[in-house]
Amino acid sequence: MASRSSSRLRRNRAALAHKVRYALDHPKRIPTYLRRAARDAWLWARHRDHIAYYRAVMASDAARSPEAAVGGRPSIERWVTLGRMQFDYLRKHGLKPEDRMLEIGCGNLRAGRLFIDHLEPGHYYGIDISPDILIQAKQNVVRYRLQDKLPHLTIADDLTFDFLPERYFTVVHAHSVFSHSPLHVIDQCLANVGRVMAPDGFFDFTFDRTEGREHHVLREDFYYRTETLVALAEKHGLRARFMDDWEKLPHRQSKIRVTHPVPEPAPDGAVDRTKDAAVDAGSA
Ligand SMILES: C[S@@+](CC[C@H](N)C(=O)[O-])C[C@H]1O[C@@H](n2cnc3c(N)ncnc32)[C@H](O)[C@@H]1O
Repeated sequence: MASRSSSRLRRNRAALAHKVRYALDHPKRIPTYLRRAARDAWLWARHRDHIAYYRAVMASDAARSPEAAVGGRPSIERWVTLGRMQFDYLRKHGLKPEDRMLEIGCGNLRAGRLFIDHLEPGHYYGIDISPDILIQAKQNVVRYRLQDKLPHLTIADDLTFDFLPERYFTVVHAHSVFSHSPLHVIDQCLANVGRVMAPDGFFDFTFDRTEGREHHVLREDFYYRTETLVALAEKHGLRARFMDDWEKLPHRQSKIRVTHPVPEPAPDGAVDRTKDAAVDAGSA
């Protein structure tokens, strides 16, 4: 396991020493940080449940800048690049038009628009906790002329997936969602995702990795050790594997793939998507 710089991986962004050092290095960012800290303290005082709190954060971010709320900062090019990176990675891991995909925290379809376009009609299912962001997602269905693909877009207030069918989704994807989730939310997801995942399906999620102390910043950004998340998946009877090939890509987060413990063999000639595939780091 390698690639992200080791000082970055050991950094504790919640520590006072880090905050002071960061403030001295980036004095112009202090007002923005203080405004954000005050806003988040206010929202946390009003919403003690994480989902309600984070939904309010997204509403506030979307009101300030719809593009920036889902990774469109500093430019739309960044939004396009990060969507393309997710799509290219899954394509190289064998994503086929026949796949049935569940995207958890689909946002405004940064990658979803490419998944929808690639998949057969009705094969994409996006869920998100934020109505503000789902409205943008719907607008992007129109902007990218994806109406005929009949994507499902659904608001969610938990990750039990209780309204979805058993053993249905061949690909489950969550990009930059667990990086905003406390452990009990991830635990709920891993406790339930196995039920909706097809026997040979897989669930890829990214996370902000630390090799030091686990911590969060303003209950918005959460940093986990790989072994914590692998153990959590195993606790729920799933197999979890760190995806080394994702590390080669220019992205700050890491990726874990979760499968059933004994995935059914891929049909003859098909790519075994429970294994790594070579990914060209320049593709994004
Ligand atoms: C940084 S955005 C990423 C969106 C999308 N995955 C992408 O890569 O463009 C995080 C999204 O996850 C959603 N989200 C956060 N926590 C969630 C949860 N527990 N369940 C579903 N969606 C969640 C947020 O509302 C937001 O739209």
